[in-house]
Amino acid sequence: MKIAAIENSRSRQEELGQFLTAMPVADFMASMFGPLPRTVRLLDAGAGAGALTAAFVSRCCEKRDDVRAFEATLYELDGEILGALTDTMRGCERRCTAAGIRFTFTIHSADFIQEMSSRLSGDLFGSMPPAFDAAIANPPYRKISTDSAERRALRSVGVETSNLYTGFIALIQRLLVPGGQLVGITPRSFCNGPYFRPFREDFLSQMELRRLHVFESRKAAFREDSVLQENIIFHAVKGRHQPREMIVSSSSGEQGADVTETVFPFPEIVHPHDSEKFIHIPSTSGHAAAKETMDGLSASLASLGVTVSTGRVVDFRLKDALRKEPERGTVPLLYPCHFNGGTVHWPKLEARKPNAIMDNAETRQWLVPSGMYLLTKRFTSKEERRRLVACMFDPDQVKTDWIGFENHLNYFHASGHGLERHLATGLYAFLNSTVVDQYFRRFSGHTQVNATDLRALTYPDRDTLQAMGREMTTLDLTQDEIDQLVTEHLHACR
Ligand SMILES: C[S@@+](CC[C@H](N)C(=O)[O-])C[C@H]1O[C@@H](n2cnc3c(N)ncnc32)[C@H](O)[C@@H]1O
Repeated sequence: MKIAAIENSRSRQEELGQFLTAMPVADFMASMFGPLPRTVRLLDAGAGAGALTAAFVSRCCEKRDDVRAFEATLYELDGEILGALTDTMRGCERRCTAAGIRFTFTIHSADFIQEMSSRLSGDLFGSMPPAFDAAIANPPYRKISTDSAERRALRSVGVETSNLYTGFIALIQRLLVPGGQLVGITPRSFCNGPYFRPFREDFLSQMELRRLHVFESRKAAFREDSVLQENIIFHAVKGRHQPREMIVSSSSGEQGADVTETVFPFPEIVHPHDSEKFIHIPSTSGHAAAKETMDGLSASLASLGVTVSTGRVVDFRLKDALRKEPERGTVPLLYPCHFNGGTVHWPKLEARKPNAIMDNAETRQWLVPSGMYLLTKRFTSKEERRRLVACMFDPDQVKTDWIGFENHLNYFHASGHGLERHLATGLYAFLNSTVVDQYFRRFSGHTQVNATDLRALTYPDRDTLQAMGREMTTLDLTQDEIDQLVTEHLHACR
């Protein structure tokens, strides 16, 4: 749909906080809404030339879901843009008529902050505040001083905030019905700025944050304007309980650009005991870089002659054969609790898990011959820095002929036997590197690492892994040292 063109001077733009949303971004925002009711009461506060409502309406008309009517309410203070806004709404009307949807709109040439604060505080006698099912917003950004008319108006409804945009969002959330949705594009500053703490508390107590989207470039989201703020888009639903998980996505902001999505447990975004209520946005650009690195690798586990399997000892099925302490006729049994930095610590007599398993005709089929094995945990706790935690079983450290690997770990082997030492240590460095961890987090929001996930990864070729392994005189390296080693070798093999 065509958005009418407007001209405005730079100083006037700044006074009004007027930065118009580029069409691809408006369309992307519209795509973030969940299911809508049959009649959608839509709010566009600070509507400009109407790009956001136009994108929202276009999406719904295209999707042809259950929406049968739109009642759009638009607030815009700038008299010079009202003609363009009306033209855009007429375009929406035509689009809806063609799709068999009713479209009505009301443009309020008024100050959204003043009007809604009065209505919400009950100052305008007999005038109930309106209610909305959906709101789409690119509110104006401008600092508002403590004694300004805006601050006083907002204070009358219990909102204490120092920027126009957070004032807009705080009012919008109060106007939504329970379950009502808001998609907004705003500066990122509210996520961690100390001045925005009251806003964050207020917002997170009334709205469920479902998704955050960040742009890799600061300028990308806006049409030709020099916006120096870093912006984010969020989708939130009116309700009191935060979701267990939420999506964090990123894109360049250009039309048709790839969108990288990652699911995170909500407590990783807002830490449950953080009194500041900071909203942490994980570095998705790191994820994109990780993807690029991994895409550049050519080997698969199979081409390296390596297999990854889940530990074969299922302890509750072999209860009678398990021993707390090693004794005559037993061999080591390894659980994730035996991971100790880069190597295994065995036996661990203080642990609750058994340390040994009888080696007999019944159990031998679940054991593997001694050798160099790389082990990874199948389940990591949220507190662990990395999703992938790899450690080495070195036969020089634990002398035995046979070993049992328990079912909560995965082990890398060569056709059921140990790996060549340098290949194993190279793999150890690679799997413990930040690049692999970030790549992994792109597609997995949980803490579980399955053997199939490890098989699906791309790997450096055998020579590169062995070269990495040869350079490692100890497994006891810091994360930075591992990352440096892996990065150097991956660059060298390109
Ligand atoms: C950042 S622009 C976004 C415009 C439009 N929503 C878009 O995305 O293209 C914010 C708009 O809010 C308008 N505005 C500023 N203060 C306002 C207020 N107090 N009440 C209503 N509109 C206001 C500005 O004139 C400007 O058009």
